[in-house]
Amino acid sequence: MSMTVLFIILYTSILVSAENCSPRRFGEDSNVCVCNATYCDFVTVQIPQDGQFRVYESSISGQRLETKLYDFDKIIKNNIKLYLNFEKKYQTIHGFGGAFTDSTGININTLSDSTKEQLLQSYFGESGSKYNLGRVPIGGTDFSIRPYSLDDTPDDVSLRDFSLAKEDTDYKIPYMKRALKINKELKFLSASWSAPPWMKTNHNYTGFLGFLKKEYYQIYADYLVKFLEDYKNQGLPIWAISTGNEPADVFALNSVHFNDMGWTPATVTKWVVNNLGPTLLNSTSNETIILALDDQRFDLPWYLHAMHNYDNRIDKYISGIAVHWYMDKYFPIELYDRTHTAFPNKFIIMTEACTGSTFWELKKVRLGFWKRGERYIMSIIDDLNHWVTGWVDWNLALDKKGGPNWAKNYVDSAIIVNSETDEFYKQPMYYAIAHFSKFISRGSVRVDLTHHRSIKSVAFITPENTTVIVLYNKNDKPKNVTIVDPNKGNINVMVSKKTIQTIIYRQ
Ligand SMILES: *[C@@H]1O[C@H](CO)[C@@H](O)[C@H](O)[C@H]1NC(C)=O
Ligand SMILES: *[C@@H]1O[C@H](CO)[C@@H](O)[C@H](O)[C@H]1NC(C)=O
Ligand SMILES: *[C@@H]1O[C@H](CO)[C@@H](O)[C@H](O)[C@H]1NC(C)=O
Ligand SMILES: *[C@@H]1O[C@H](CO)[C@@H](O)[C@H](O)[C@H]1NC(C)=O
Ligand SMILES: *[C@@H]1O[C@H](CO)[C@@H](O)[C@H](O)[C@H]1NC(C)=O
Ligand SMILES: *[C@@H]1O[C@H](CO)[C@@H](O)[C@H](O)[C@H]1NC(C)=O
Repeated sequence: MSMTVLFIILYTSILVSAENCSPRRFGEDSNVCVCNATYCDFVTVQIPQDGQFRVYESSISGQRLETKLYDFDKIIKNNIKLYLNFEKKYQTIHGFGGAFTDSTGININTLSDSTKEQLLQSYFGESGSKYNLGRVPIGGTDFSIRPYSLDDTPDDVSLRDFSLAKEDTDYKIPYMKRALKINKELKFLSASWSAPPWMKTNHNYTGFLGFLKKEYYQIYADYLVKFLEDYKNQGLPIWAISTGNEPADVFALNSVHFNDMGWTPATVTKWVVNNLGPTLLNSTSNETIILALDDQRFDLPWYLHAMHNYDNRIDKYISGIAVHWYMDKYFPIELYDRTHTAFPNKFIIMTEACTGSTFWELKKVRLGFWKRGERYIMSIIDDLNHWVTGWVDWNLALDKKGGPNWAKNYVDSAIIVNSETDEFYKQPMYYAIAHFSKFISRGSVRVDLTHHRSIKSVAFITPENTTVIVLYNKNDKPKNVTIVDPNKGNINVMVSKKTIQTIIYRQ
């Protein structure tokens, strides 16, 4: 039986069994939802008739995308008032997603075929999170079971031995293909963590101050374009490539124990202008765009200024700026506003986030811990209110330990796989992202919604002509809120403690 036929049969049986969250508690402040070969929770968004709005709600108390229908009110009932202004528009959204790391594929591989399909439908399906972005590492990362590159033959300057690894064919490509079948809107972003060690100053995948040797600038560009072409030949065109994952890590004495390669604003600009940019444009992957940075917020906006100051021609090659969320709380969100003001034509996209990554979080995986979902919700709302056009989670699926990871850099994930029981657990982080990704389709535009200190909020109009508003109450008491829509009337809602609501209605 072909895989496609098998998948169709499996999916038909899933549709029939679409149900609510099957909750399980693991001693944390909230629950996970358990999925197995025959059972998983799925929700299809229903857009109500004119004059009504629908609320989808998840909370620390255990609700997961539960929905209710309401009528618009003539009166404003509550003290917390938020005003919509559709005339004032902001950024256009690219989407939401997660990363197809080797570890993700290794974990999914341990599940039965029908449980695998439940997991992929949970992320990419119409009644799942509708993820439309997937990040794909070029070669290995720490979330691999060995360090490797796509050409580990020393001094292979002709790239004769370049080839995709067994990790590509066993752990990434099959799931990317299936995900793309499930959601045709899916676009892939790629990044390389390190060049092959023989191209580097420190002859290592990792380590302090490891840079690309100048004599290999062109060969490394050719190496990356070969990756793009090989994936394209697999039917997996790559939408965007970044200049490299976290180039600043090599300057941190304590944090470079996994795949990494350093760039400065000057060296990366020189390489893109002379090598990567022209090579890409002259290749069959010439539609792939280049993203700058792929690193923490603290690099903005000075890194972009420094790149432009070094060589203005960089402007032609860079389409967007990729940022990561680590250490966000130490650096103000206004850095994104300043970046947008200085570079209004470069979109900002958040390409990596996870919880459990700091050394003081001793328990890497915390099944059902609402606080970690809350951190995602707060970050997504803040980012979207400050010009960010997309939000991409790190590993799509990890094991109960938060791995595998060859460098023992274990972290948490929105879905945790239990290979012994053929189950997976959808964490609060999964629902945190779904409250945005299911509703805010690509091409949605953020519109103005006034803020109030008691509630987090953000609003969009979608290409389907719906209004989508996301509210989060992080307080320990319920908050009653009125949203005033100048065309439709008033939305009076009660947002319980530690509750996220997505409100949707026709324009
Ligand atoms: C799958 O989950 C459902 C719902 O929780 C449960 O009734 C069923 O027994 C589970 N199947 C297996 C094989 O564990
Ligand atoms: C690479 O660096 C790591 C430390 O980050 C070290 O343990 C290892 O021995 C190095 N390998 C080589 C080939 O130098
Ligand atoms: C463009 O690619 C062609 C064939 O791949 C090659 O012959 C040519 O030298 C390239 N031009 C530049 C400017 O890199
Ligand atoms: C991109 O490459 C295709 C062939 O693969 C070519 O037809 C097209 O003109 C190229 N576009 C640009 C902007 O160079
Ligand atoms: C959305 O509304 C605009 C303007 O009223 C209209 O042109 C467009 O066709 C509508 N789109 C959909 C998907 O209904
Ligand atoms: C909030 O609204 C609910 C009804 O939706 C009401 O029962 C409750 O008393 C209100 N709370 C406050 C503090 O106004």
